[in-house]
Amino acid sequence: MNKITAAITAVGKYVPEYILTNKELEKMVDTNDEWIITRTGIKERRILKGENKGSSFLAIKAAKDLLSKTNLNPKEIELIIVATATPDMQAASTSAFVASEIGATEAFSFDLESACSSFLYGMSVASSYIESGKYKKVLLIGADKNSSMIDYTDRTTCIIFGDGAGAVLFEPNEEGLGLLDELLKSDGSGRQFLKVEAGGSVLPASKETVENKMHFVKQDGRSVFKNAVFNMADVCEKIIHRNNLSNEDVAWLAAHQANKRIVEATAKRMKLDDSKVMMNIQKYGNTTSATLPLLLADYESQLKKGDIIIFSTFGGGFSWGSIYYKWAYNS
Ligand code: UT7
Repeated sequence: MNKITAAITAVGKYVPEYILTNKELEKMVDTNDEWIITRTGIKERRILKGENKGSSFLAIKAAKDLLSKTNLNPKEIELIIVATATPDMQAASTSAFVASEIGATEAFSFDLESACSSFLYGMSVASSYIESGKYKKVLLIGADKNSSMIDYTDRTTCIIFGDGAGAVLFEPNEEGLGLLDELLKSDGSGRQFLKVEAGGSVLPASKETVENKMHFVKQDGRSVFKNAVFNMADVCEKIIHRNNLSNEDVAWLAAHQANKRIVEATAKRMKLDDSKVMMNIQKYGNTTSATLPLLLADYESQLKKGDIIIFSTFGGGFSWGSIYYKWAYNS
């Protein structure tokens, strides 16, 4: 019997209708369209409006999109992982709610949080369950309502983040396709550079934390930028090298969409043509856990069976990594 690998067999996506443009941000903070485009590549981002809607709202829509494209009976799903840095609530699992709402009544579920690397790490976890033979249908969703933790008077963060979700189904593959290697890293000394300081167990919510705006994302952009450029390129080069691949072999780079310049720097180190670099940051900004599945959904029609994709992310923690993957179907 051939070795079982884990392959994505379907993708789905959802982004909210409301579009927050650079022009609109110009009216909110001291910034301008040209600065945002040249420094980040972002033209607009989607924002989830309305009361009582959290990341689960986005996740459910993305999962339903996948289900409608595949005619998969949700009762066949055995495990649902929701990768998110913005869970609906503390303590109550977002994934449990998502599973119930999409009718995946036979599945167990859990949330996975590692900032912008949540989805990449989720790919590793989902694949391990499949490779072990334990489960045959694992739904991995990346969903973030970043607008819930952004200060729209802070020009250094509000221009970057957006809301969105993407979903992928992992199933066993016996043709040698799917996730083939991974190089995942973390370094806690980076925690000071990108964080939401209050609301967790270290600094629970109080009048002071709210008054001091400590429930919003704060980052030292330059430090994160430097670390992201160095580390993403480093793991991508290493994973290519240890799998004896050349830049010619790589069909696509699917890199976390945090800043167009970071993605371009990674591609340059890998000596990849622009045409091989998946990019949708201009439409959605940084959607944290949703960037990778949104790339897959947007590029799905161009992907061919056997295409080599190098995935990579970098985010808070710090957390980062790279995955060597062979696409498993023609759509
Ligand atoms: O997904 C998680 C990982 N996150 C990231 O990867 C983010 C990484 N960092 C970045 O993408 C970039 O550092 C930013 C986009 C956040 C900032 O770009 P930058 O080129 O690093 O700008 P900077 O922070 O060095 O700021 C340059 C100047 C500063 O003015 P002075 O001090 O030179 O006078 C800023 O105050 O630009 C100013 N500035 C702005 N100007 C207009 C900062 N934000 C803005 C803005 N509009 N929105």
